[in-house]
Amino acid sequence: MEEKKLLYSKESIDRRVKELAGTISRDLEGKDVVLVGVLKGAFIFLADLARHLEIPHTVDFVRLASYGSGSVSSEKITITKDIETDIEGKEVIVVEDIIDTGYTVTFLRERLEERAPHSIKVCTLIDKKQRRKIAVNADYVGFALDEGFVVGYGLDFDEKFRCLPDIYVIKEGEP
Ligand code: IMP
Ligand code: MG
Repeated sequence: MEEKKLLYSKESIDRRVKELAGTISRDLEGKDVVLVGVLKGAFIFLADLARHLEIPHTVDFVRLASYGSGSVSSEKITITKDIETDIEGKEVIVVEDIIDTGYTVTFLRERLEERAPHSIKVCTLIDKKQRRKIAVNADYVGFALDEGFVVGYGLDFDEKFRCLPDIYVIKEGEP
């Protein structure tokens, strides 16, 4: 059994996503911008962020698989669905749901760098710091979180809870 506790309401998420979109729009005005969403977790965040951006941009997606099960990412990551956009010379914004250990976003950044974009920025809805294994400098962060497993607004636990409009912390263990 999981017990859920409200962490970020849909109103506060909406407010924050609009602020991020405003900042990104100012920073990258006049540039050739490609949003690269990391499936599946970032699909709702990207959809909202993209609709609040005030600058032209294109959208693409990548899907990554990490070996090892449960809620801790391992170091072995592969691309199971690549982007289809030529990002050479462009400003790439990686859109992530959450950065935890940092392995996923570090791997993705290295793979994208090989394709010679002009810049790569990282925009994550949640920056969860406690289990960080690799230093990651996210350029745009919605919420900073110390610890806890969160679900909703795209984030899942075992494929459940992705479509909840708010974000909750799950407490496991008590039957
Ligand atoms: P990292 O490689 O450890 O940074 O892991 C990032 C990925 O792990 C995220 O994109 C999520 O898919 C997953 N993840 C890490 N923490 C959570 C969480 O609290 N809720 C849901 N998914 C999470
Ligand atoms: Mg993810």
